[in-house]
Amino acid sequence: MTGPSRTVPDPEDLIVAPSLLAADFAVSAARDVAEVADWLHVDIMDGRFVPNRTIGLDHFAALRAATSIPLDTHLMISDPEEWAVRYAEAGSTYVTFHAEACDDPAALAKDIRAAGARPGLAIDRDTPVEPYLELLPHIDMLLIMTIKAGAGGQAFLPYLLEKVRTARAHRDASQLQVRIEVDGGIAEDTIGQAVQAGADTFVAGTAVFRADDPVTAVRRLRELAVTASARAESNAVPSDGEDKR
Ligand code: DX5
Ligand code: ZN
Repeated sequence: MTGPSRTVPDPEDLIVAPSLLAADFAVSAARDVAEVADWLHVDIMDGRFVPNRTIGLDHFAALRAATSIPLDTHLMISDPEEWAVRYAEAGSTYVTFHAEACDDPAALAKDIRAAGARPGLAIDRDTPVEPYLELLPHIDMLLIMTIKAGAGGQAFLPYLLEKVRTARAHRDASQLQVRIEVDGGIAEDTIGQAVQAGADTFVAGTAVFRADDPVTAVRRLRELAVTASARAESNAVPSDGEDKR
């Protein structure tokens, strides 16, 4: 069933975005999975908003030059107002900044859009989603962390999917096109739950780049997501005709 009450994404809307953090931002790794992935996820950490530091604009530009795949830039930095537009101008398709680091998310989203990218807003593990629902019309993506932001390889925290359910219900009720992305611990055994909760965009670092064959891992994750979405669709209206969602 489709329509305003559907609370899981359609199979054709699903995006798998391997996170280059797990590949040490190697250009060769980016090229390898660019053939099969929808986007590549690029984590920018500044050593202040989170303890780790990753790459800067120069290395980002090298990644941008290496492939034509959409780049999904995730800014884990304490001064996104200073950097977000630069990452947009450097060729990001999405630039996502953290709610915890920004005083005026709607204004920054507008600046990102004016610089030619799509704005995303990220919500870290300990931040409730409700105060940010009113911002959904201003952004193109809501990133719900499914770990504490700052490092790859952490265990998926299933209780955070409640935020995904809340955001998805609000999105659908308001008929918004905003994507709902999950980031952290997404793997073969967790991606289905995230789909059922209403996520449509899946970041996966360890599950892709620490697999024996990253290309096969991307394909497998997408297959599992599509299966979970299709299953949710066929279960949407029980055969007795009573809608139990
Ligand atoms: C961590 C980053 C993630 C990270 C996910 O804060 O935002 O994108 O690469 O790594 P995994 O998939 O290993 O949890
Ligand atoms: Zn990330």
